[in-house]
This record gives sequence, structure tokens and C-alpha cells, in this order.
Amino acid sequence: MTTHFYHKTVLLKEATDALMVKKEGIYVDATFGGGGHSKAILEQLGENGRLIAFDQDADAWRNKPDDSRLIPVKENFRYLNRFLKLHGFKSIDGIIADLGVSSFQFDTAERGFSIRTDGPLDMKMDKRAGLNAAIILKTYTEAQLHQLFELYGEVRNSRQLARHIVAMRKSMDINTTEALKAILAQILIGNPNKYMAQVFQALRIEVNDEMGALKELLAQAAISLNSGGRLSVISFHSLEDRLVKQFIKKGRWDEPNIMEEPKELVLKPINAKPIEPSAEEVKENPRARSAHLRIAEKI
Ligand SMILES: C[S@@+](CC[C@H](N)C(=O)[O-])C[C@H]1O[C@@H](n2cnc3c(N)ncnc32)[C@H](O)[C@@H]1O
Repeated sequence: MTTHFYHKTVLLKEATDALMVKKEGIYVDATFGGGGHSKAILEQLGENGRLIAFDQDADAWRNKPDDSRLIPVKENFRYLNRFLKLHGFKSIDGIIADLGVSSFQFDTAERGFSIRTDGPLDMKMDKRAGLNAAIILKTYTEAQLHQLFELYGEVRNSRQLARHIVAMRKSMDINTTEALKAILAQILIGNPNKYMAQVFQALRIEVNDEMGALKELLAQAAISLNSGGRLSVISFHSLEDRLVKQFIKKGRWDEPNIMEEPKELVLKPINAKPIEPSAEEVKENPRARSAHLRIAEKI
């Protein structure tokens, strides 16, 4: 492992204990990042156990430990089953996902994720991807902008904000975090930092299609898990947590047809309420404060 600071792992013990790692088991870490959860899983795995770790950000792989039991997949976790198959795994015993961005991504100005640093309005987790935040602000219609600020940022005046951006972009390029912040300063309501963070979050979710990727991950995890296998997901905002909760309840995404017999349940929740970090953890790592861990078991 590298010694520079990359990311402080959230709910390390709670999220990895949830997997009940078996020495010979096959596990997936969908969000490798700084490798904190992966390292804890590797410590519990025996010689024949395997850990398949995903991260779509090339920078994360600087943290890769020299361990032949770890199989790195430098791709989006929405392709979980495709890559499991490619590496010869038919099923898995557990999967962990610690959603969102790492501290490293957030604090690196050139990535454009944070309101605290000046950088290009990029926000791509996967640098190979085409869409970035500046393109969204330049090309989305007013209605599309309104929808994403409302849905992904819960921005209180999302309609006015969308209209304001469309008006401003006629006379200026909105290519940097500073340019966007100057525009937001003209229209924000409530706490400025909170407001700006909500807008930045909405853009980040859209750039990376975070909700779409999560939906695909959950659906594939439910298929790939062995009976008794565990799903352990840490989310950082209510939209994500709601999605995870709903999925665990139903085990699928299709809308229920009232004429159909109810399908058999796929997953059972292990905790009725999400597990949150202790006051001590939040004190030590304020970024953990909004974390919600949900655990489920394949039936
Ligand atoms: C919160 S960090 C994970 C931190 C890690 N658990 C640790 O202990 O260091 C999330 C990581 O997941 C990656 N990530 C987020 N969404 C992804 C996706 N859809 N596919 C692949 N990687 C993703 C990000 O690039 C980031 O490095």
C-alpha cells in the first residue's frame, strides 16, 4: 500500500464484518478507491480466496497491494457480471460497495468535484468518459437542468437556477468551478456552501450516471451472489440509500404487476435500519457523517 493520504475508509469494520468472509470465498469490492475495505477483506481471506476489485478511476490503482489474490478490474462496476465471467467466476460469496467519490478525487482541484478548489468543471470519475459537468451546463436544455438539480441535488429553487444558467451561458463559458460558483452566488438561497455543494453533487451524479450504475450493480449482485452470500452497501445521500433499501426489499427492479403472482424474494435485509458511523468516527472523519450502511443476504 502507498503511504500518502488517499482516503479514510468509512465504516471499515461494520461494512467488512457484514460480509462474514470465508477463507476460501470469492468476494467483490465494487469501489476499490484507497483500498481500505479491500485490505480488510484480504486479511481475512485464505490462500485460495479471491477478491475482484473494481474502480473506474485509474488513479485509485496506485493503491493496489502486491497480492496475487486480488484481481483488479479498472472498469465501471455496472459491468460486474461481464467481468466476473471474463475472469472465470460463476458466482460470489459477498460484495461490498462504498459509493461516491474518494477524498483524493474530491480534493484534487483538476478533477473539479469540490466547491473548495478552483479547477475545470470536469467531475468524471473515469477520465476516459466523454461527458463532463461543463458539457452538461453548455448543452442540456433548461428542462433537463431543472430536473437534475431537483432530483439529484434537491436544490430548493432548481427551476430558477436552470433558467439562470441558460441565460448566463449565452454570454459566458461556464468551464470552471469558480465560474459556476460566481453564477450560483447570484441566485442561491440559504447557506451558500450547502447550496453550492448540492448543485455540485447533482452535476457529479449526472456526469457519472451514478444512479444508473448503482441500479445495474444491485441487479447483477442479486444474480451473482450464492445463497447466504452478503451484500454490504454504504451510500452517502438519501436518493442512493432509498434505492438500496427498495432493492433489498424487492430484489429486482421491474414494477410489480398486480395480476401476477408475487415473485419469490431474493434478498433478506440483515438490518432494518441503516447502520451509521459512531460519533467518534464522525469526529475523526467528518466526511463519514452522511454514511448509511445497508446489509442484505441472498436467500
Ligand atoms: C468512496 S471511494 C471508496 C473508498 C474505499 N472503500 C476505501 O476504503 O478506500 C469510491 C471509489 O469508487 C469508485 N467508483 C464510484 N463509482 C464507481 C463505478 N460506477 N464503477 C467503478 N468505480 C466506481 C470511485 O472512483 C472511487 O475511487
